[in-house]
Amino acid sequence: MGGRPCDPPTPLGPSHDLYCIELVAAPGINGVSGRVELASPPGPFTVAVTADGHARFIPVVHLRGLAPSRTYIAWATTPQMDSLIRLGAVKNGRVTLRPIEFDKFNILISAERSARVREPSGRIILRGQSPSTRPFPPDLMEFSLGAAGSSHAMDQAEPDSSGWPMVPTPPGLMMLPSEMALRPDVTPFLPTAETPVPKAEPHEVLFLKDGDIVDLDAELVRRTIDGQSFTMYSYNGQYPGPLLEVSRGAEIMVRFTNHLSDSTSIHWHGIRLENAFDGVDGVGVSDAFTYKLRFPDAGIYWYHPHIREDIQQALGLYGNILVRDPGAKTFANREQILMLQDLLIGDPGLIPFGQESPTHALMGRFGNVFLVNGEPGYRLAVRRGEVVRFYLTNASSTRTLNLSFPGARMKLVAADAGPFEREAWVESVVIAPAERYVVDVRFDRAGAFPLVNQVRGLDHLFGRFIPLVDTLGVVTVSPRRVSPDFGAAFAALRRPPPPFAALEPYRRYIDRAPDKTLVLTLQTHGLPFVTERLMQLDSIYFAPVEWGGTMPMMNWASTGRQVRWVLKDPATGRENMDIVWHFRRGAPAKIRLVNERRAFHGMQHPIHLHGQRFLVLAVNGVPNEDLAWKDTVLVPAGAVVDILLDAQNPGEWMLHCHIAEHLSSGMMLHFTVD
Ligand code: C2O
Ligand code: CU
Repeated sequence: MGGRPCDPPTPLGPSHDLYCIELVAAPGINGVSGRVELASPPGPFTVAVTADGHARFIPVVHLRGLAPSRTYIAWATTPQMDSLIRLGAVKNGRVTLRPIEFDKFNILISAERSARVREPSGRIILRGQSPSTRPFPPDLMEFSLGAAGSSHAMDQAEPDSSGWPMVPTPPGLMMLPSEMALRPDVTPFLPTAETPVPKAEPHEVLFLKDGDIVDLDAELVRRTIDGQSFTMYSYNGQYPGPLLEVSRGAEIMVRFTNHLSDSTSIHWHGIRLENAFDGVDGVGVSDAFTYKLRFPDAGIYWYHPHIREDIQQALGLYGNILVRDPGAKTFANREQILMLQDLLIGDPGLIPFGQESPTHALMGRFGNVFLVNGEPGYRLAVRRGEVVRFYLTNASSTRTLNLSFPGARMKLVAADAGPFEREAWVESVVIAPAERYVVDVRFDRAGAFPLVNQVRGLDHLFGRFIPLVDTLGVVTVSPRRVSPDFGAAFAALRRPPPPFAALEPYRRYIDRAPDKTLVLTLQTHGLPFVTERLMQLDSIYFAPVEWGGTMPMMNWASTGRQVRWVLKDPATGRENMDIVWHFRRGAPAKIRLVNERRAFHGMQHPIHLHGQRFLVLAVNGVPNEDLAWKDTVLVPAGAVVDILLDAQNPGEWMLHCHIAEHLSSGMMLHFTVD
């Protein structure tokens, strides 16, 4: 059984420190003790947040020493006591209470005369504070640097001799002058062309049949984004690359030619294809390679290079593959296949990449311009009552999104490689890099419905949570009613027919001991003093997900030369590419992913396995109640995620973090299926 955060701490368990609150008895109270587990709500995502981005935890209280005859109530309040919620009545033993959705909170247990009280009126017996209350502003004098500067000071910053332009920073963040002076220790790189390059076009849809052959060319293009023009990469001159639409069971060939001035490749993310065509090996400059693809599973997949994704994918090398199930019925009026990306653009243009090694090696490169299918400002016009099926793919380097259409109802239908056992209403979709989700959204009122990413960023220096809201686009709903009206079908939560009911037998693995354990951690050397020091202060608390680039300078200046992200097998002590795991074909294997709390900088990691599929069994010991086949899973900071690998596809494959800068900083291993 997977340990829970309030179990006695073990090195391979979830972080006690981040997910368990020790309650403290009030003065004069003796013999009473307790803990509150901040449990991860069971699915569908490995991290739960509200539509506006507040973390959501289910408090599970364990209490001892209460008088059995008396009434005790648990409460949660914000630190300023301006909001109070009644979590419910508690007693000795374990009680699961209603969810808490505050950034920072206190938990109080009071002794009451009546179970019906609306606010604490009796004596407070026990209290505790959420781990998120721990960060506080450091003594800035310690840095002997005077007062903190604000990001506005950056406007006057001069371009310096390093050759790097300034990175844009989120407004309102405070930073130290020594932080603002940081620069990456690598050579800036952006593609250049001697001759004029063609203007990129929006992507086309290629409907492919069994036996078809298609050409894909990686080449330079000119793209205009928000009025600025850049030299970028493309497949076939398009953004994103062509959408390949095929039927399940089809086999096609892709003749690929590399016209870039660096080697590249195409990896077919999530597809259980033949090992030789997985696209991990580079195709040299001016070389060609023919990939043979087969599509055993319906779902939404994507393709991208497997060399310096931090550069190549960010510059536009990505496209979707929609594998249709010929028999499937869709109760939607239309479909939208959306690839989401955030691009980092400064005043003088794209912020260059690190030539020898990636910049942004700590947290990955967060962009400041949101692109939907390669363009800012996504627009869609629909009629009243329309049900739109959105196929979402996050092609960002590092940003996890929390997407919603406020005012429109959203139903979660499928994950990476197939439908959920049960459809579910969701208020938002949490989608990490490389993940895909399929949602049906009904627009039943006329008006404008923005597609927003709403998250809570952590201002690490001041320990504040700040709301970050990005509008990716707008759906305009006309007053005219749509026909046919799928309202009735939309209102029902369906269970897809077998074979998906066939997931049931896999449930018994939830209680099994893991076959393999993998620790996700970090090593650093030679980071600047200010970075080291700030990160030590910061390590007092890590949010489950780093949602925004709220340490922009420090992160930018950290390169793969100073930062090594590590996958460690605790059974052998081996790390990254020294690990070669073996799995027997057809034997499901349980893998425990442990995101180590003690890491210098805690962060979530979207972990991806090539050529196979898996189920997410549990998060911090809480079983998942709605299974779906996936190929990428987000492991929150300090958390333990159990997956069940369906090892069916023979060959030698990779497992890695899909944050492009983490992958380029070592975070990968090999496994074989024989
Ligand atoms: Cu989408 Cu190995 O990657
Ligand atoms: Cu990572």
